[in-house]
Amino acid sequence: MEKIAIASDHAGRELKDDLIEYLSSIGFEPVDMGVNSDKSVDYPDYGIPLAEKVSVGEISRGILVCGTGIGMSILANKFRGVRAALVNDVYTAKMAKEHNDANILVIGGRVVGKGIAREMLKTWISAVFEGGRHQRRLDKIAEIEKKCGDAD
Ligand code: RB5
Repeated sequence: MEKIAIASDHAGRELKDDLIEYLSSIGFEPVDMGVNSDKSVDYPDYGIPLAEKVSVGEISRGILVCGTGIGMSILANKFRGVRAALVNDVYTAKMAKEHNDANILVIGGRVVGKGIAREMLKTWISAVFEGGRHQRRLDKIAEIEKKCGDAD
C-alpha cells in the first residue's frame, strides 16, 4: 500500500481529516503529520516536516492544506526536489502531474469544498507524468536549485 503524507494547519485541518478518510477508502496509506486540533498554529511547523520527507525521498508524495494553500506552497517549494502545486480545480490537478510532475498537492481548505478536493486528489493521484518536453522544462528549474545550493 503506497504511503501518502498529509499535513495541515488549523485552517486546513477539517479538509485534511476528510482527505485522510478518502485516501484510506481508495487504497492508500495516509501518514497524518498533523495538526490535530483547531487551535491556531503556524503552517510552516507542519508543512516543513512533510516537505523535508518528500525532499529526501523518505516518501514519494504528499498533500498540504492551509487556509488558501499559498503559505504551504511557498514553503514547500523552497525544498530541493519538491514540486508543490496549488490547485483549485480538477483540470489543474491533472496538469500538475502530467506536465509538472508535482510531488506535493496543495489545497486551500478555506477555498474549496470537500467534494472538489476529493476529485482533485483522485485526479492527481491517478495521472501520469508525460516526460519529454516537460522533463526538459523541469530540468531547467532543477538547475536553479543547483545554483542556489552552490552559494558560498
Ligand atoms: C491562517 O490564518 C492562514 O493564513 C493560513 O492557513 C494560510 O492560508 C496561509 O497561507
